[in-house]
Amino acid sequence: DITTKDHANLLLQPSASGVRQVVLLGAGMDSRAFRMDWPEGTRLFEVDTAAPLDFKASVLRQERAVARCERITVAVDLREDWPGALAAAGHDPAVPTAWIAEGLLIYLPEDAVELLLARISTQSAAGSRMGLTLGSRGVIERFGADAAPGSAASMWVSEMPDDPVGWLAAHGWAADSHTLRERAAAYGRPISTPPQREERPGGLISAVRR
Ligand SMILES: C[S@@+](CC[C@H](N)C(=O)[O-])C[C@H]1O[C@@H](n2cnc3c(N)ncnc32)[C@H](O)[C@@H]1O
Repeated sequence: DITTKDHANLLLQPSASGVRQVVLLGAGMDSRAFRMDWPEGTRLFEVDTAAPLDFKASVLRQERAVARCERITVAVDLREDWPGALAAAGHDPAVPTAWIAEGLLIYLPEDAVELLLARISTQSAAGSRMGLTLGSRGVIERFGADAAPGSAASMWVSEMPDDPVGWLAAHGWAADSHTLRERAAAYGRPISTPPQREERPGGLISAVRR
C-alpha cells in the first residue's frame, strides 16, 4: 500500500546513507524484515506486545519465512519502559535509527503519544529518521463513533495535532507531512475519486533528527 511504499523509501534512503538500525514500533504483522533488500549489517527490531508477536512467530514458522536482515523481536508494552527493553535487546542510541510507527499513534491517548515521541527522540542520534502515520482530523468522529465494538476503529483515541510539522520541530525533528492523495499521485497511482471535504495537511509524516 501507499503508506508502506512511502515509508519504504524512508527506509531505503537512510540505508543508502548508512543507517543500519531500524525499529518498528507497534510492528504487528509488518513483514518488511522478510521482503526488503536490506544492506549488510542491518539490525531490525520489532516492538509489540507478546500476543501479536507470538502469533506472528507461529505464522512465520509455518511459512518457514527467513528474515533478510538481523531481526530481533522485543515484547514490551509501549506504555512501559520500552527504551530499556530495546536497549537490552541490543539497540544502540548512539548511532542513528530509522523508526517506523504506522497505525499506532491513533490508539494511544495524547499524553502517551507525547511520552512516546519524547522517548523516541532521546533514543535518536542526529541523522535518525522517522516515519509516522497520524489519524487525520475528524476521522474518529466519522468512523470511530459508530464503529462496531471490538473493531479497530472503536479503539481510536487520538488524531494528529493541528500543526504536525511544528509539533515535531519542537521535539527536534525536521518533518514533512503528506496526504495519501499526494503520495499516491507521486507514485503514479492517483486516487481518482474527488476529495469529499477539504483536505488538510496529511497524516503521513517523514522526519529527520536534527
Ligand atoms: C493497527 S496495528 C499496525 C501494525 C503495523 N504497524 C502495520 O502498519 O501493519 C497496531 C499495532 O500496534 C500494537 N500496539 C498498540 N498498542 C500498543 C502498546 N501499548 N504497546 C505495544 N504495541 C502496541 C498492536 O499490538 C498492533 O500490532
